[in-house]
Amino acid sequence: MPLSIYFLFRASVLLAIAAVAYQVGLPNFFIFKVIRQIFSTTHCYISVKTLSSGLPHAECFTVSGDGRFGRIFLDETSYDVVKERRTGHVIPGLWDGHGHLLQYGELMNSVTLFGANSMEEVKERLVDYKDSHEVAGTNEQWLRGVGWDQASFGGNWPVASDLEIGGNFKDLYVMLDRVDVHCIWVSEKVLSLLPSPLPYISGGEIPAKGVFCDNAIDIVMKYYPKPSKERKTQFIRDAMWDLNKLGIVGIHDAGVHADEVKLYEGLANQKYWTVRVNAMVECEARNTFCPGNISKMSSKNGMLHVRSVKLFADGALGSWGSAMIEPYSDRKDSSGSLLINTTTLSRLTKEWATAGYQVNIHAIGDLANRLAIDAFTSALDTLCPESTRWECQARHRFRIEHAQIIHPDDQRRIIEIGIIPSIQPTHATSDMSYAETRLGKVRTTEEAYRMRSLISLNPVLGSDFPVEPANIFEGIYAAVTRRSPRTGLDANGETNGWYSEEKITLKEALEGFTVNPAYGAFLEGKAGVIEEGAYADWIVLDEPLEGLDLESLRKVTVRETWVSGKRVYKRPGPENLRGR
Ligand SMILES: *[C@@H]1O[C@H](CO)[C@@H](O)[C@H](O)[C@H]1NC(C)=O
Ligand SMILES: *[C@@H]1O[C@H](CO)[C@@H](O)[C@H](O)[C@H]1NC(C)=O
Ligand SMILES: [Zn+2]
Repeated sequence: MPLSIYFLFRASVLLAIAAVAYQVGLPNFFIFKVIRQIFSTTHCYISVKTLSSGLPHAECFTVSGDGRFGRIFLDETSYDVVKERRTGHVIPGLWDGHGHLLQYGELMNSVTLFGANSMEEVKERLVDYKDSHEVAGTNEQWLRGVGWDQASFGGNWPVASDLEIGGNFKDLYVMLDRVDVHCIWVSEKVLSLLPSPLPYISGGEIPAKGVFCDNAIDIVMKYYPKPSKERKTQFIRDAMWDLNKLGIVGIHDAGVHADEVKLYEGLANQKYWTVRVNAMVECEARNTFCPGNISKMSSKNGMLHVRSVKLFADGALGSWGSAMIEPYSDRKDSSGSLLINTTTLSRLTKEWATAGYQVNIHAIGDLANRLAIDAFTSALDTLCPESTRWECQARHRFRIEHAQIIHPDDQRRIIEIGIIPSIQPTHATSDMSYAETRLGKVRTTEEAYRMRSLISLNPVLGSDFPVEPANIFEGIYAAVTRRSPRTGLDANGETNGWYSEEKITLKEALEGFTVNPAYGAFLEGKAGVIEEGAYADWIVLDEPLEGLDLESLRKVTVRETWVSGKRVYKRPGPENLRGR
């Protein structure tokens, strides 16, 4: 019978059951269940990997009208001919445990300089971009770009005058983020806005005329024309569309200012808001306590959650900004710099935790990580004098963002307390070419880019997009092989994997991008899993991940992405119609 008639028929049968149930006085929850059933749909695939201990491998599930999973089941009843027509393999929708939504959208609306191998190439890309973007570079809308690396300029920092490419570039406001977004390189026109002499800023550097790193970036940002709400809304839409395409249904947005949280709250019910966002709040002034400007919330549709804050202990390794216990091996006069001292970090952690917020501290260097652990330990002792640190931590779920270089003593402390490391596997493979030069052999062997060593903590995995590509399959590949997802090779150009003892398994990596970020956002049982009551978010793949050889893993594309029971992305192309 035609589908619509079938549904009408089914609905009336179920309604009749509900009416009878009401008549005979069955409890309300039963009636609700029947009514939910009326509006539910059933989806079947060749295989469904649920990541739930209840039924790890299923074939079908129902989705209720409110966008949650209902029954998850193996279809033992339907005919084999029906089963044979099914296509696709399902896993839970993917989560990125650390990314930057607005910056990602802004990047999609700016010049990409990633992989530009010379100053010439950077200039060419800028000129091409300007040709097709008339308004970029005005005082109201600076020309933005991201992805340069002084390693491509023979190791020399660029300078402002490098951006006076041709006649008309002289008058343009240009601001280009370094590949790790911890430095910016600006044009003479931007410099002309700044006070002279430039103010001193602690925890920042100005390594060349026109380049500003870490806290020194604030000197420029004061004059940066903030994108309008309309432009930011566009950034969000562009970013979400792209993330859905990659099978991403949720992200931890690692640093959202109070006014942006307000913007998010206004948009989270819109149809185009198709990625769940767990926002880590950042105060207007970095590393402060500003509870008056925000409120904890979870939107009714589960698309926006605000219950954590981001603090910063140090900068990045690429610009020697990360705070180290011992000096850098390739710059003996420097051990980076802390952006905050122990006293203040401990106080802020306690204040935020007491106000009910999860505290997530950015820490890259081993000194910064030590400081973060000190602050957490001290806060835990104050917050729960009656219980163990482990129990208290399970309640507060403090996290270290990046957790990149950690002294062996501190690795033991993290494991003992259960602090959540939030790790980006592609940072390891992007940094592997220079990390050992910066850190020396011993520190690299014992401290850097741990994954296997910290696996008992169920690390939250992420990409740090737009610092790295947002593609989670690249992250999984990097975690499983410790090789670059771009080239398939390790730092020696071989295929053994960079410090391969830190490899984790495919299962562990997948958990790092699903159930672990769910736990890290207080969303366990709701996200990253296919089980009754969880958000109905899933993706459809051509093959089960386990069946793929490693080289195919880094090139996986997603056939479909579903959020709240609605399809938000479908890969174009004939294979989608044909099935397989
Ligand atoms: C945050 O709150 C402070 C004082 O409570 C206020 O001065 C400031 O303007 C607020 N900022 C935002 C972005 O609302
Ligand atoms: C820590 O930093 C705060 C704020 O910058 C400062 O007031 C305080 O004196 C510092 N404490 C120590 C022990 O250095
Ligand atoms: Zn980040």
